[in-house]
Amino acid sequence: MKADVLLGLQWGDEGKGKIVDVLTPNYDIVARFQGGPNAGHTLEFNGQKHVLHTVPSGIFHDRCINIIGNGVVIDPVTLYKKEATNLIKAGVDIKSKLLVSKKAHLILPTHRFLDAASEAAKGKEKIGSTLKGIGPTYMDKTGRNGIRVGDITHPDFKKKYDFLVAKHAELLKFYEFEYDLAAAEKEWFEGIEFLKELQHIDSEIYINHALSTGKSVLAEGAQGSLLDIEFGSYPFVTSSNTICAGACTGLGLAPSKIGEVFGIFKAYCTRVGSGPFPTELNDETGQTLRDKGNEYGSTTGRPRRCGWLDLPALKYAIMLNGVTRLLMMKADVLSGFDTIKICTHYKFEGATIDYMPYNVNEGELIPVYREFKGWKQNLTNATSISDLPAELELYIRYIESQLNVPITLVSVGPDRKQTLYRENVTI
Ligand code: GDP
Ligand code: IMO
Ligand code: MG
Repeated sequence: MKADVLLGLQWGDEGKGKIVDVLTPNYDIVARFQGGPNAGHTLEFNGQKHVLHTVPSGIFHDRCINIIGNGVVIDPVTLYKKEATNLIKAGVDIKSKLLVSKKAHLILPTHRFLDAASEAAKGKEKIGSTLKGIGPTYMDKTGRNGIRVGDITHPDFKKKYDFLVAKHAELLKFYEFEYDLAAAEKEWFEGIEFLKELQHIDSEIYINHALSTGKSVLAEGAQGSLLDIEFGSYPFVTSSNTICAGACTGLGLAPSKIGEVFGIFKAYCTRVGSGPFPTELNDETGQTLRDKGNEYGSTTGRPRRCGWLDLPALKYAIMLNGVTRLLMMKADVLSGFDTIKICTHYKFEGATIDYMPYNVNEGELIPVYREFKGWKQNLTNATSISDLPAELELYIRYIESQLNVPITLVSVGPDRKQTLYRENVTI
């Protein structure tokens, strides 16, 4: 068997959590491969909304095993207080269904302080990080100073922890950043005690063995391709590989073990945090998208920047990931506009281009738009693709014709049930 991968093609928050939950009945295992509590994956069913940060989005299905892979960075406080406690309350038996890679790195309280200190020092140039300590933790990982889940049961664990914290304290002096370590440490060690109760595994061996015995695996990405550390709009990116290659390194999957690559995108664009966003609408239309799409961050509550769909950016993400199927989210949010626009190219230094140049300053990249007729009808009660207006079908077909990948699913609301399949699409 090969593992399928589901990942975001834009700047995150495409609706990965919802769709992983919808697809989970087809899989034995769902495994997160990168990122950490910077992610906020929202699921809705039976009138209840759940937000997950580190736990994979297959957790609500009884027979599915969920794995936090080696590529993920874990904050024990978030995992325990914000996720496990709610899941246990909701009746989820996480101790039997959630397995954690021994090789996943831990976010220390001082990683969070360093993230905040670094952002404060950058002033107007800040990344707009979620302040969850992601960057500093991956820095310690690649700098070979990190602490991993497998270390927490080792007799030297506290010694290792104290050594790394002492180093961070020196770095924090450089920033002249004030912090209360004692309070943060107390809840961190409570989180560590909880983490000790979960099953720790060699997830690369577990997953490859599962595949070899015919089990099906879905790898769940976090963030989006345009926030990738290599190919995103550096430095306004996250600190992990969010693209499909990240599923190989973050779970120990050989490239030849990758099956379908589900690329998920919103029918428009959003971005939270700083960095280039060519189709951003700083006007009433942008505000309408924000209001109708409830575009406020699931992790930080920050308003998301909104704009029209960006085809050059999507083409780039499809190329990087080898996407085999496209899934279009939040089509319902576009109802009510007289005209809907799609960016097909950019104008840059007098030329028309269809890629993002290396260095762009604000205002230098001018989107070239194609206009589409909108529709008024509310889509949220649609139960079949044939219920959708002809104008939306034209919008979808145009996108497919430009991207050369079929759109096989259209989402028309946050609930599990508000999911429509386009069977037998040919492009
Ligand atoms: P993720 O990070 O990719 O899992 O996405 P988020 O959960 O951060 O953000 C997506 C938001 O859109 C959540 O609030 C979802 O409940 C919501 N959502 C998902 N799909 C749809 C949809 O088709 N229509 C609408 N209106 N909301 C959706
Ligand atoms: P999900 O998985 C949207 C953004 C931050 C910031 C940049 C770096 O829910 O789609 P970081 O905390 O990673 O150092 O922040 O990346 N960012 C996200 N934006 N969705 C996410 O995750 C994000 N995770 C990080 O806003 O611009
Ligand atoms: Mg999110």
